[in-house]
Amino acid sequence: TTLQLIGAPTDVGASVRGAGMGPDALRVADIGGMLTRLGLQVIDAGNLAGPATPWTAPAHGLRHLEEVVAWNRAVYQAVDTALGAGHVPVMMGGDHCLAIGSISAVARHTRQRGKKLRVLWFDAHTDVNTDTTSPSGNIHGMPVACLLGHGPAALTGWSGERAALAPEAIRFIGIRSVDADEKKAIRTLGLTVFDMRHIDENGMRAAMAAALADVDEDTHLHVSFDLDCLDPDYAPGVGTGVRGGPTYREMQLCMEMAADTGRLGSLDVVELNPALDVRNRTAEVAVELIESLFGKSTLVR
Ligand code: ARG
Ligand code: MN
Ligand code: MN
Ligand code: MN
Repeated sequence: TTLQLIGAPTDVGASVRGAGMGPDALRVADIGGMLTRLGLQVIDAGNLAGPATPWTAPAHGLRHLEEVVAWNRAVYQAVDTALGAGHVPVMMGGDHCLAIGSISAVARHTRQRGKKLRVLWFDAHTDVNTDTTSPSGNIHGMPVACLLGHGPAALTGWSGERAALAPEAIRFIGIRSVDADEKKAIRTLGLTVFDMRHIDENGMRAAMAAALADVDEDTHLHVSFDLDCLDPDYAPGVGTGVRGGPTYREMQLCMEMAADTGRLGSLDVVELNPALDVRNRTAEVAVELIESLFGKSTLVR
């Protein structure tokens, strides 16, 4: 397997500054070296370029729309190129709005090859707001809606279909912060959400087993890893942290179980905010989890 690291250094979809430093914090934590030592081929494609974040108020319910579109266009291009070369793209954000470009490219690629797509959305939030429901106007709270075909026109349809994803293609894990209108959307769309209560009652193993139940040899597995999924005790370097998340061990189990499918085809690592981190701990934790996602295990290799 050849991994392609793609840096997308921007906080354009957020309202807290700092996620733009995420790619370099992951490099400082030696993401490239760690994965190379696992026996993988790693290409660091460097950082994409895009507009500066203007830090303006939302217009028509959307903050920085023009700049969000520009960054996502760059991400779409880079992920599309990596997939076309047969590589596994690792999109290092950057905030979670970048999943629009990343997963749109993955969806197009997957459809063209007649494969099924399964997205694991590890997050404290469901990110299923739209311009009309968002309490913040921050587009990092909207990528799921956009990918399901419900966002603003400028951010939907990128995969070549109105909806890049069907609601059945996505599983949410670690959720504990859902806005009022997001709750309605989850019900109307029929989204499958393994929230923290479900995980408390059933355990992470059962939640992940259910989330991966019908992943087969024809499935492309995409992991969209928002680092605020982890409890902030383990991952303080995020802009919108929420207490009560999975522990380090629970998150490791998620990654190991995802790795065991052997179907991982692409990854987003987003919302790392080095300005809020403690001695790069969150970046180091992220790299350890990503190693597990790419097959590192304690007893086997
Ligand atoms: N639900 C809130 C909003 O729409 C928070 C979203 C946080 N998203 C994230 N990717 N960190 O503003
Ligand atoms: Mn190659
Ligand atoms: Mn989040
Ligand atoms: Mn998110």
